[in-house]
Amino acid sequence: MKVFQHVQDLGDLSVALAEAQEVKRDRYQWQHLGRNKTALLIFFNNSLRTRLSTQKAAMNLGMNVIVLDVNQGAWKLETERGVVMDGDKSEHLLEAIPVMASYCDLIGVRSFARFESREDDYEEKILNQFIRYSGRPVFFMESATVHPLQAFADLITIKEQTPSPLPLKGESGHLQDQVPSQIHSTLPLEGERGGGLWSGRPIKVVLTWAPHPRALPQAVPNSFAEWMLAASQQGLGIDFVITHPQGYELDPQFVQGARVEYDQMKAFEGADFIYAKNWSCPGVTRPQDYGKVLDDYHTMMDWCVSARQMAVTNDAHFMHCLPVRRNMIVTDDVIEGPRSLVIPEAANREISAQVVLKRMLESL
Ligand code: CP
Repeated sequence: MKVFQHVQDLGDLSVALAEAQEVKRDRYQWQHLGRNKTALLIFFNNSLRTRLSTQKAAMNLGMNVIVLDVNQGAWKLETERGVVMDGDKSEHLLEAIPVMASYCDLIGVRSFARFESREDDYEEKILNQFIRYSGRPVFFMESATVHPLQAFADLITIKEQTPSPLPLKGESGHLQDQVPSQIHSTLPLEGERGGGLWSGRPIKVVLTWAPHPRALPQAVPNSFAEWMLAASQQGLGIDFVITHPQGYELDPQFVQGARVEYDQMKAFEGADFIYAKNWSCPGVTRPQDYGKVLDDYHTMMDWCVSARQMAVTNDAHFMHCLPVRRNMIVTDDVIEGPRSLVIPEAANREISAQVVLKRMLESL
């Protein structure tokens, strides 16, 4: 794997999920892969989970790790060509990228949407320069539009929390006793799977917008939607619904085919998993408002996930990628309740990162 950005980069999700399970069984069994190899993790923005989980995953694989916080101690970087560099930026990304690449074997980059130009954000201007000029495998640690390590961890968590999977055709033992290629070869043909890898009926997963005082990027909901739809298309038995106020429609490249329900209570009915997240205006139905908070959040507090909405679900699990603002996105009682998955979800970030780094090491 040379780039990890979209769900397609991982291929068959049932194979990837089995690989994640195998990583969890013994995360130190591939230390030979990372011996004398270096991962460089570059952060243009803050992080707690991504920084720690990716570093831990690389260490599990026997790698050395270098972490660079670009805005704390490095030269400020210019990202545009043709600029007369007479301001506060001392170095251009076009020199910095190959220099950084010369010190490592894999590169992870976090660079959020800047909300200066929708075109620049949705073209992934920064990350694409790393792909183009580093000559190294590049994995996205949350970019302007996607957060694939989070979405993969979310899928792993949903799989783990879903009642016992149907036995796969030809399966004689446990999934964790098989290597991914064996699991792949025993997958049933389309139509033989019943409810998919999950239990007998499709599970209902709802992505809900929730209020926030500041403008946040769309990377997490974009990726979550992309991954849930891919899981659904690959026959994993997911019924995916998105709910948000008018104006927050996500970009079609990520949500094509998804059901959108503007009535949050209706969307929550019978749900098995509730995934809450705030995002600013994606500029799809309201291009002039890209990156803005559309209404004063005080008027949107009905969207905060509370016992009221959870009561109409199928005793749903609550999910959020964290960090979360309590009593804005979700009430204390829901996030602290027995159905909250926010901690196992964060713990699975180590697993999703390890599967990705392992595949990249294998392709060097
Ligand atoms: N969920 C997530 O990516 O957390 P951090 O921003 O702390 O890395």
